[in-house]
Amino acid sequence: MKKTILTGVKPTGMAHIGNYLGAIKPALEEVEKRKENADFFFFIAEYHAHTSVKEPALFKEYIYDIAATWLAFGLNPDKVTFYRQGDIPELFELTWLLACHTPKGDLNRAHAYKALVAENQEKDNQDPDQGINMGVYTYPILMASDILLFDTNIVPVGKDQIQHVEIARSIASRINELYKTEVLVEPQEEVKEEVATIPGLDGRKMSKSYNNSIPLFVSEKKLKKLVNKIKTDSTGPNEPKDPDTALVYDYYKLFSTPEELSVFREELIKGLSWGEAKAQLFEKINNQIKGPRDKYNQLMENRQVIDKLLVDGAQKARAVAKRTMERVRKNLLGL
Ligand code: ADP
Ligand code: TRP
Repeated sequence: MKKTILTGVKPTGMAHIGNYLGAIKPALEEVEKRKENADFFFFIAEYHAHTSVKEPALFKEYIYDIAATWLAFGLNPDKVTFYRQGDIPELFELTWLLACHTPKGDLNRAHAYKALVAENQEKDNQDPDQGINMGVYTYPILMASDILLFDTNIVPVGKDQIQHVEIARSIASRINELYKTEVLVEPQEEVKEEVATIPGLDGRKMSKSYNNSIPLFVSEKKLKKLVNKIKTDSTGPNEPKDPDTALVYDYYKLFSTPEELSVFREELIKGLSWGEAKAQLFEKINNQIKGPRDKYNQLMENRQVIDKLLVDGAQKARAVAKRTMERVRKNLLGL
């Protein structure tokens, strides 16, 4: 049986190297690997981003950035249904219906909401819900709708999203039990364990929220500057360096072949200066990013191309969405 594989990316800031190696690259490799054995749906989850991004100009910019990033790395719209969440009105209808089948307690237990409540409690706030909007609270229902609307079998996600897919599965299974038929397909998460957590410039996880990231498509000059900011120890120019504790070495590993890596390793042990090591690393990263960067810049200067691709993608997606909604309305509402 052909599988449906779906994943969404929230446009909350410029995509960085961690997003590329941890999410974009593995997803595009999966498309090549599965070929005709699966239907792929990749979409931009801008309505999820609105829980935090409240500035319209920025919001729009992030949407284009994410779309251009996927396309620059080779997403092929003929092989993947690529669309924007907001272009699928059926999604919001389904969200309401799913809400009517979601126990409030499940959302009380959702990690992201609980973490915010815990923060308020630590600050001794009178109201544990202070500053938490209903978008944050009901976030898992909108995500369940993203998934269930397309009869998704597999949802590739990072570890932090497992609970959300579990919530989607449990809503589907509750509905199926109540109506005694398979109204909705029960999805499974797929967590790629082998994808390492890419460190940021300071050694913590690279994240937009930590201000430690290397955005993918900055200029060469800016990229060089950022690479020079990577944390090193105080070992002097001709002194031997320990590759196993060097962040520069960790990055080099991500962008080189095993042979190239072993040469780099020897050079560090022999006393390559940090400055020279960073210059070599810059070359490695830049060589891999150069092609996609040109493509990205081209797309960002011709945004009507992106608009057109997303409109076409939405049209394909809606054909599926309409079918699902007919089935859902018939079973749940008798309409
Ligand atoms: P951020 O932490 O920068 O806000 P997101 O949470 O938007 O990133 O993550 C988008 C995707 O990129 C997710 O699939 C996530 O697992 C992946 N990702 C983000 N940061 C990293 C990282 N440092 N290493 C590996 N993958 C990452
Ligand atoms: N919540 C996901 C994140 O923060 C993004 C997302 C929204 C998503 N809807 C989805 C991921 C549906 C997979 C499937 O990364």
